[in-house]
Amino acid sequence: MGEDGTRFFLYAAAWHHTRPVSNVMRLLCSLDNLTQRQPTFLQSFLVYRQGEEVSVFRNRCPHAGKAIISSDADIPLSGEQLWRCSAHGALFDPVTGEGLSQVCLNAFLTPVTHQIDEHLQLWIDD
Ligand code: FES
Repeated sequence: MGEDGTRFFLYAAAWHHTRPVSNVMRLLCSLDNLTQRQPTFLQSFLVYRQGEEVSVFRNRCPHAGKAIISSDADIPLSGEQLWRCSAHGALFDPVTGEGLSQVCLNAFLTPVTHQIDEHLQLWIDD
């Protein structure tokens, strides 16, 4: 195969690797970039990986609509297992998004529709 044929092959491979799982989704990250069982703030989304399962939520608190993460200081440290709202301190389960504190009992973070493709790339419906 000539040089042009080789280029086409490489382009096609790259396209296949990054193509969205649907037309309305965008790539958020590779699962390899998410630490297991560590709440992760990524491109303004709250992300949590447990095995091959991932939860993704909007950075908005159901209590008063403030940002859960409003600065780097609000990002959970290694080993912390809950989201804590930066405004009034409400706690949320990182898997289900369920509110665990009085001000947010029976309330949930807003989930973001997402999919993981065959290359373990995480896509979100933004
Ligand atoms: S806005 Fe989050 S606890 Fe009040």
